[in-house]
Amino acid sequence: MKRAGVVGWPIEHSRSPLIHGHWLKEYGIAGSYTKIAVAPEEAADFFASLAQRGLAGCNVTVPLKEIAFAAAEVKDPSAVAVGAANTLWLDGGRLHAANTDSFGFMRHLELSAPQWREGGDQVAILGAGGAARAIVHGFLEAGVAEVRVLNRTRARAEALAAHFGPRVTVHDWAARDNASAGAAVLVNTTTIGMKGVGSLGMDLSRLGPRAVVADIVYVPLETELLARARARGLTAVDGLGMLLHQAVPGFERWFGVRPEVTPELRDIIVADIEGRA
Ligand code: ATR
Repeated sequence: MKRAGVVGWPIEHSRSPLIHGHWLKEYGIAGSYTKIAVAPEEAADFFASLAQRGLAGCNVTVPLKEIAFAAAEVKDPSAVAVGAANTLWLDGGRLHAANTDSFGFMRHLELSAPQWREGGDQVAILGAGGAARAIVHGFLEAGVAEVRVLNRTRARAEALAAHFGPRVTVHDWAARDNASAGAAVLVNTTTIGMKGVGSLGMDLSRLGPRAVVADIVYVPLETELLARARARGLTAVDGLGMLLHQAVPGFERWFGVRPEVTPELRDIIVADIEGRA
């Protein structure tokens, strides 16, 4: 029986077991996927001993993604770009790392707003944390001419831009309405709006009619930002799709089947978010 899991500290809140558990059942695979709580000071040893623990690999969540990245012998370009790993697997006895947030975000964007490039050649990203890094990497890989980063703490946005090079530009948080005017895609990667707390307070009227607005927050599914985008007739892309799609590459590595993100899977997670599970 192949075993995998999600490792974090704390880990109770993770919805990954629901996703992978659904796929294990769906594809009739005799495997398991569980939550594994590992304290930061024990994480390096834990990742170094996956094989001894009988694990084919694991997902990694906060605050262990940088430790997971450092522990891996083979780092995929997505993990190198972000400097953090959310997916580990063993291949030929060697520990491999990837960051599938970038893939998950871009895949969901392509599927739910395939026309996203038509709105212009620049995109605007709110936030400069780990999720922002993954998404900036995704847009640069997709060939976008300019990625504008706006963050409350400007120094963090500057560090991100320095890491990725001249296609990433830094703009003041206070000037976010102006800086995102003309963006093909506006993405919120901050925690604002999570569980309905806070407001980005953005004036979306400066976005073009073909702009796409995405949020990585998925509790609630329809954030204030997305509701306001929809009210203006813009395409709104929710954060749940990213969560579902980022899980695909790991499952394939550990269990040997490329799983599908289906409406049924989405419904299971939505029910859980809405407290109906
Ligand atoms: P992750 O790695 O998941 O992206 P993170 O590193 O904690 O998470 O980043 C959270 C982001 O939300 C940051 O960009 C943070 O801005 P700062 O770098 O200035 O802290 C942003 N954020 C959180 N609360 C915010 C608020 N009230 N106003 C503006 N930005 C906020």
